[in-house]
Amino acid sequence: MAFLSDTLARVKPSPTIAVTSRARELKAAGRDVIGLGAGEPDFDTPEHIKEAAIEAIRRGETKYTAVDGIPELKAAICAKFARENGLSYTPAQITVGSGGKQVLFNALVATLNPGDEVVIPAPYWVSYPDMVLLAGGTPVFVEGPRETGYKITPEALEAAITPKTKWVIFNSPSNPSGAAYSAAELRGLTDVLMRHPHVWVLSDDMYEHLTYGGFEFVTPAQVEPGLAARTLTCNGVSKAYAMTGWRIGYAGGPETLIKAMAKVQSQSTSNPCAISQWAAVAALEGPQDYVRESRAAFERRRDLVVSALSACPGIDCPTPEGAFYVYPSIAGLIGRTTAAGTRIDSDETFAAALLDEAGVAVVFGAAFGLSPAFRISYATSDAVLAEACARIKVFCEGMT
Ligand SMILES: Cc1ncc(COP(=O)(O)O)c(C=O)c1O
Repeated sequence: MAFLSDTLARVKPSPTIAVTSRARELKAAGRDVIGLGAGEPDFDTPEHIKEAAIEAIRRGETKYTAVDGIPELKAAICAKFARENGLSYTPAQITVGSGGKQVLFNALVATLNPGDEVVIPAPYWVSYPDMVLLAGGTPVFVEGPRETGYKITPEALEAAITPKTKWVIFNSPSNPSGAAYSAAELRGLTDVLMRHPHVWVLSDDMYEHLTYGGFEFVTPAQVEPGLAARTLTCNGVSKAYAMTGWRIGYAGGPETLIKAMAKVQSQSTSNPCAISQWAAVAALEGPQDYVRESRAAFERRRDLVVSALSACPGIDCPTPEGAFYVYPSIAGLIGRTTAAGTRIDSDETFAAALLDEAGVAVVFGAAFGLSPAFRISYATSDAVLAEACARIKVFCEGMT
């Protein structure tokens, strides 16, 4: 009898973490490496949020809480959904978990049976397919190619839906492409979903606040209220308030689903960290200056990176609407040879050669299900980004 489960054998470790570890190893060995793999803001958590956490410790908020969130945080989340998304949820329709990741995982574990399909637009966040597999479901991919701005079309969505489809996952702005759907584009997709009442919608709005150039963020249940009764709107404080280490994510959705998700959480982690929950209350209810300031910094960096990469021969870098990633295509470099003699036959070889020969760590597109491309996280300083792009340019110019 095998010790490890068959389910685990179907799952792969996170490729983004693998890249970060490889870059760390090279650095430890004394190599000059710039890591552009990490998916977290380089800013510190705002001071008033840290103070709220310290206060909570002093007040003795250090015990178990209700499994899926304290009433104060649920109230703050209801107010946030109403204020920013025009969505009306009661506290019983809100769940809080240890990061957006746990919330998504709970939803899939609570609902998937063997054979159930989950439609995932590609390029996708690396965790979606593996979470679906761990929960016993089957991922079904729909490509959103470079030509359509890394977005899927209503026709492609329609073609992917079968009688077995349980969920469609939306992630706008997207990790890894930064692409975000306008209200009109999302309407095209929600119209398709209105014709398939057995399909549920999982909207991962983690990068909601990071949109640029006046782009207006929208979420499916807002664009099509007719979908609200079968939509789980997921969000969190990790990216919006530079709180990745605090581990608080949340979602709003129909009460039966929320209760089922709490049942899963009650038998795994129980409540998310009590102190972090109080910090999240301060994040959602306190001053929002950090959100504005970080958005301005990320927009400046996006423009810097897009313009620098556009000057690299063979790289085609679209300007994304949001998040802190760019996803340039390297179709123009396939078949070329680097100055050190590596033949580029895939985005994986490209990323490996870029790391070894130029000291820049990026994540290859195949990890996100759409090749040939690579992801750069621009959540790092302007100076580091400028240096990294200069190295990429020299690397590309050296190819024959
Ligand atoms: C698209 C997307 N969803 C969810 C998450 C998970 O966020 P959290 O850190 O709150 O678990 C991430 C984190 O990288 C993400 O990129």
